[in-house]
Amino acid sequence: MNNAPIGVFDSGLGGLTAVRELKRVLPNEDIVYFGDTGRVPYGTRSNSTIKKYAFQDAKFLLKHNVKMVIAACGTVSSVATNLKTDLPVPYTGVVSPTCFAAAQSTKNKIVGVIGTSATINSHSYRDMIQTFDSEIKVVEQDCPLFVPLVENGFIDKDDPITRLVIERYLGKIIEAKADTIILGCTHYPIIADAIREVVGKDVTLIDSGKETAIYAAKILREKNLLNDSDKNGECEFYVSDTPEGFENVAGVFLGENVSHKVEQINIELY
Ligand code: DGL
Repeated sequence: MNNAPIGVFDSGLGGLTAVRELKRVLPNEDIVYFGDTGRVPYGTRSNSTIKKYAFQDAKFLLKHNVKMVIAACGTVSSVATNLKTDLPVPYTGVVSPTCFAAAQSTKNKIVGVIGTSATINSHSYRDMIQTFDSEIKVVEQDCPLFVPLVENGFIDKDDPITRLVIERYLGKIIEAKADTIILGCTHYPIIADAIREVVGKDVTLIDSGKETAIYAAKILREKNLLNDSDKNGECEFYVSDTPEGFENVAGVFLGENVSHKVEQINIELY
């Protein structure tokens, strides 16, 4: 047993998709969350910058004595693959658990992957799915406008701007008749309802944040690192820009008021 917190990071709000699921599957765990809102988006940056940011984010979490680090970010998971061996605590990114779920889900063996430009250019999801089943055809599409839409609160399923952007990006995947689509950036499940409106109810959407949280819970259980307290876990949130925008969207997404729990820090010190 280990009652230290779980550390989760992302470039901004996206990792909350993992936090929401962690709170559901492991309600007694404390969580320390870092959203790098001062430097979002990561997905349009160079690999060396993404690696540098990811290492600083993990270092910040380790200063809080976390027992595990979750990179709840498709971009970091695709590019900063060195984190798995470089950290002194158990680590997971989102690519492997998400691909496992998608490979299990597809019936017609056509899977769409949407993510940031850095993620799609890395082909991380395509390569990982094909290690689970080499017959699966993977159709990839980057969606660089999705992260700014989410960070700026355009998350309503009926928002006409969000819908138009989704239609523009998903055309190729719909045309390919994918029966399963990986939301390969953790920001995207926040607009899953809007995506669902465009792709229809018969397509399975795989939430990378959720699948990763389920996988992280499995690792903690296997390594005997679960919290043995019977009280509800606490969440602390840290951001690298002013907390207001984060607080608003996080409040809606997590269904609780987080305004008193979000603190701004200087990530360049790590
Ligand atoms: N949530 C991050 C991801 O999963 C967003 C990346 C970005 O900041 O562009 O890729």
